[in-house]
Amino acid sequence: MLRTRFTETFGVDHPIVQGGMQWVGRAELVAAVANAGALGFITALTQPTPEDLSKEIERCREMTDRPFGVNLTILPAINPPPYAEYRQAIIESGVKIVETAGSNPAEHLADFQPHDIKVIHKATSVRHALKAQTLGVDAVSIDGLDCAGHPGEDDVPGLVLIPAAADALEIPIIASGGIADARGLVAALALGADAVNMGTRFMCTVESPIHQNIKEHIVGADERSTDLIFRTLHNTARVARNKVSQEVLEIEARGGTFDELRDLVSGQRGRRVYEEGDPDVGIWTAGLCQGLIHDIPTCHDLVHGMVSDAVEIVEERLAGFAAVQPA
Ligand SMILES: Cc1cc2nc3c(=O)[nH]c(=O)nc-3n(C[C@H](O)[C@H](O)[C@H](O)COP(=O)(O)O)c2cc1C
Repeated sequence: MLRTRFTETFGVDHPIVQGGMQWVGRAELVAAVANAGALGFITALTQPTPEDLSKEIERCREMTDRPFGVNLTILPAINPPPYAEYRQAIIESGVKIVETAGSNPAEHLADFQPHDIKVIHKATSVRHALKAQTLGVDAVSIDGLDCAGHPGEDDVPGLVLIPAAADALEIPIIASGGIADARGLVAALALGADAVNMGTRFMCTVESPIHQNIKEHIVGADERSTDLIFRTLHNTARVARNKVSQEVLEIEARGGTFDELRDLVSGQRGRRVYEEGDPDVGIWTAGLCQGLIHDIPTCHDLVHGMVSDAVEIVEERLAGFAAVQPA
């Protein structure tokens, strides 16, 4: 067992989080993560309406009696979803942990805190994490450049970002991005984190509700199999490299307009990747740690294997180094 401020604060067995994942963070996966003793998040906006989110939370409750949370991601949108209604659905469902991401969590906190909902805010820089701490969040999840999805624009990898955050913050820190096994977990704890957040690794599990072809594609991919798109829009996203991501980069390189990108990058095309299993149909999200993923385990085996391997690394490999006496 690994006990940290994170396991104490959020009432889970292991310092491992399955962060929000559009189209992937559904009840089956989140319940499996919860039953494994880690903390999973249902992704609110994967559900088409707030009523569907309420039903998804209920479905998850039918599969687990352990704690789980809901991710609420607020990103710039031409037609924004009814965020306040999704928030209300979370509050009314009785879920007690929320992961916020994408923008300043202040408006969420004002609604969540009176209902004793703990908030983990996901940030990509020390300054944004500090701001979230000042606003009163319970923990921050910090995504380095290595992560799948939106790493921000500062390009600081976790090896520097996590200890820099640990120096600056007082609340628990969850290291996110590039972590897929026990080595990443031990490294994150050594850097000052209290837990790790994983996206790509949990996508590639038995219970992950995506097409088997995509899981096998991740197993076959290496650490160079991603692209950073939307750099020119200052809304960088790390995605799986494919024909579409390469086309997007070509359009961006010649100064093309967003109108030329709109269809290529549509969320609905990305959703088809996960549902139909063709990795070249649209843009889909995956991180550098694809290069560390070689199997498709159950969430139980993944979480328990990571924790026991982490304990072994600390007690044997690292303790062995510390025990060596100079000649
Ligand atoms: C398929 C996929 C979809 C994601 N969607 C979201 C999302 O909707 N909201 C969010 O906050 N993060 C999202 N993320 C980011 C993850 O929560 C997590 O921060 C990231 O995957 C960590 O990097 P890793 O993949 O290297 O573990 C997504 C990641 C993946 C792989």
